[in-house]
Amino acid sequence: MTNIILAIESSCDETSASIVKDGKVLNNVVATQSIHQEYGGVVPELASRAHQQSIVPVVDKAMKEVGISPNQLDAIAFTRGPGLLGALLVGTSFAKSMALALGIPLIDVNHMQAHILAHFIDDPKPNFPFICLTVSGGHTQLVLVKGHTKMEVIGQTKDDAVGEAFDKAAKMLGLSYPGGPLIDKYAKLGDATKFTFPNTSMPGLDYSFSGIKTAILYFLRDELKKDPDFITKNLHDLSASIQSALIKMLLNKLKRAAREHNIKEIAIAGGVSANTGLRDALEQMKVENGWNVYIPDFQYCTDNAGMIAMAAYFKYQAKEFVGLEVGPLARMPIN
Ligand code: KG4
Ligand code: ZN
Repeated sequence: MTNIILAIESSCDETSASIVKDGKVLNNVVATQSIHQEYGGVVPELASRAHQQSIVPVVDKAMKEVGISPNQLDAIAFTRGPGLLGALLVGTSFAKSMALALGIPLIDVNHMQAHILAHFIDDPKPNFPFICLTVSGGHTQLVLVKGHTKMEVIGQTKDDAVGEAFDKAAKMLGLSYPGGPLIDKYAKLGDATKFTFPNTSMPGLDYSFSGIKTAILYFLRDELKKDPDFITKNLHDLSASIQSALIKMLLNKLKRAAREHNIKEIAIAGGVSANTGLRDALEQMKVENGWNVYIPDFQYCTDNAGMIAMAAYFKYQAKEFVGLEVGPLARMPIN
């Protein structure tokens, strides 16, 4: 039987809505909040207010774009967590009200599971079990994916997320927020071997990015003492060298995880999977290691409701619904 689900994402600084019909994601409307640029990072209170302003027009646009009216919907899905509590609350409350008004089921979606399930929106789709390196502004995880909702974290960062490391390094270089995409842009014009930064990973499959962040800070401080124009003169080479050091750390552990679990189905997901250096390095490793590699389309790397819609479809099939008493969870484990 046909099913149509409206999905809403509001975990951080993107308000997004998407419609999925019989497992096919029809669209992905995203409103990015530019207000945070002035502050060099996401300001939670401003994020909540911006979600409140955008949610009605974004949902309305998603429905109208594909000619779906509210009474045609079979379920409403929303990001329950992890994320900023106030931001999540906007999407959760909106979804609950709409489900109540329409008398249809409500589906809660885990944001990190959804990043991984974005791989099921388009072909080719990974085969189970696969390993997904999930890299975003809030998370860095190696996930063993055994099924659409059966996931196990086998390695993760003990401090900062890699997206945060990109953004903080960018801030030190005087770039605006979010700096990850800018480092990516400038790195294309630079020499990645010009400067070296330490590999500060943890033992086993875990990561740590606080050490490399401090190393970059001290290196720049010392160089700026010698030459106040050091950053301006070396922006491209610095971007390329920082990006290369972060990617090496990510991929060393990914390679180790693949070897230890004897898996050749490899995926990446999350905002940092939009990084062209990471995507290119992975393509190279695919050849060297005989992997099948799955890299999401750019629109499904950073936060979007298309991935929430995809995850919601699998939960709808399994009839995994929640009641109206459900609330957001800022820290929601992947399973
Ligand atoms: O998944 P996402 O949109 O939001 C979270 O759930 O955190 O990830 C956002 C992060 C930011 O840190 C941003 O700088 C980073 O992804 N990012 C990138 C690129 N595009 C987004 N980092 C490096 N290179 C990129 N091209
Ligand atoms: Zn995300």
